[in-house]
Amino acid sequence: MKISAVKGFRDVLPEESDRWNWIESTARELFTRYNYRELRLPIAEKIGLFSRSIGESSDIVEKEMYSFEDRDGSILALRPEGTASVVRAYVEHSLYVKEAVSKLFYVGPMFRRERPQKGRYRQFHQIGLEVLGRDDPAIDAEVIVLIDDLLGRLGVSQARVRISSLGDGQCRPAYREALVEFGRAHVDALCDNCRRRLEQNPLRLLDCKEEGCQAVTADAPSMDRYLCAPCRDHFDAVCAILTGEGVDYAVDQRLVRGLDYYCRTAFEIVAEGLGSQNAVGGGGRYDGLVKAMGGPEIPGVGAALGLERLAMVAGETPLHGGAEIFIAPLGADADLIAARLAHGLRRHGVAVEAESGAKSLKSHMRRADKLGVRWVVILGEQELGRGAASIRDMSAKLDFQCAIPLDSRPEDFFDGLRRLAAEPVSRPA
Ligand code: HAM
Repeated sequence: MKISAVKGFRDVLPEESDRWNWIESTARELFTRYNYRELRLPIAEKIGLFSRSIGESSDIVEKEMYSFEDRDGSILALRPEGTASVVRAYVEHSLYVKEAVSKLFYVGPMFRRERPQKGRYRQFHQIGLEVLGRDDPAIDAEVIVLIDDLLGRLGVSQARVRISSLGDGQCRPAYREALVEFGRAHVDALCDNCRRRLEQNPLRLLDCKEEGCQAVTADAPSMDRYLCAPCRDHFDAVCAILTGEGVDYAVDQRLVRGLDYYCRTAFEIVAEGLGSQNAVGGGGRYDGLVKAMGGPEIPGVGAALGLERLAMVAGETPLHGGAEIFIAPLGADADLIAARLAHGLRRHGVAVEAESGAKSLKSHMRRADKLGVRWVVILGEQELGRGAASIRDMSAKLDFQCAIPLDSRPEDFFDGLRRLAAEPVSRPA
């Protein structure tokens, strides 16, 4: 019986992997430039980490976590996101003692048991970044500018930032109360989910996808009017920097994120070409989280991008640097020489493919063409007889009689190839 992959879990085949590697290496390079360092985190955590940080009444904790009982009776969960783990590690290793500001990034798989569809999977991958130890608006803006920069480098066109302020412990309670009151007044028109969560988590009202709820909440009070002066100033300063940097953003006070730890700045980056799952990334500020996780009062801000979604909207992948040389032996004796030459050249740092057992030069050439190599080293009966290979320069479509003896050292062989390419003594192929 054939066994297929689990629903919502997918393979990343080599061509897509090339694309992911390009996206990841572009991100890593940029992170270095902005002075972020990588944190490699475990995939499983104690389940309480996520319920306490993301929120008991969030969709993720209520119904999307992959959790299981370990043999010692503890309940673990596959991480649904990275921020909670970053904060756990930050507190566990007291990183704040070593540095006043920690700028961290991570890349890896996350797990949410959502309904799979285009751009939405049960195992997906995030590139995330977190800054701990700064609460000034410039750092919120830096996170967004970095992402904007990354999207630009990856050739993502039509990306737009939606941004709002969710207020803080001072001003949000009054807004929350206003929303609960609004919800109570319209309770008959709300879906079961919203009704159930109204008292506990009224902000979820604004995020409900049900048509009925959306119609009702079109008139719901907006956080905008409730922001206290420090939150308002903070938000205005973030927006002013984004404007100055030419970031394409729109203030959207209805933006509430699906995770409960946010305060003040919250944002999402939407891109065209993603269909209904149009958020390529999202993030925001979470000033109370380090304390809630048992650490000191240290503010935080960060964001994460979905790799699968980035791969859908990024520009063309630069050409993959595959094999440079293809060795085409014809016959058992030539196979042995080909293997020796290939190993020697690889040890010398050259990317080589050699295939034995081919029936004809034509089939070798078809493979070489497909691999897009620069040179084909032909080892037929004639070549073995005279102790030197024939070379085909695939880019110039020229054949050379090679003057480099087959028993030369690999580095001399490769240097010889390069010399031939520079001054071709050639005849048309
Ligand atoms: P999030 O908005 O839940 O935020 O996820 C960030 C991104 O991960 C989304 O914009 C999307 O691109 C991708 N993503 C989420 N779920 C899926 C899925 N099921 N399939 C494919 N891609 C998905 C967070 O996770 C926060 N931890 C971000 C953050 C960091 N906030 C502060 N720091």
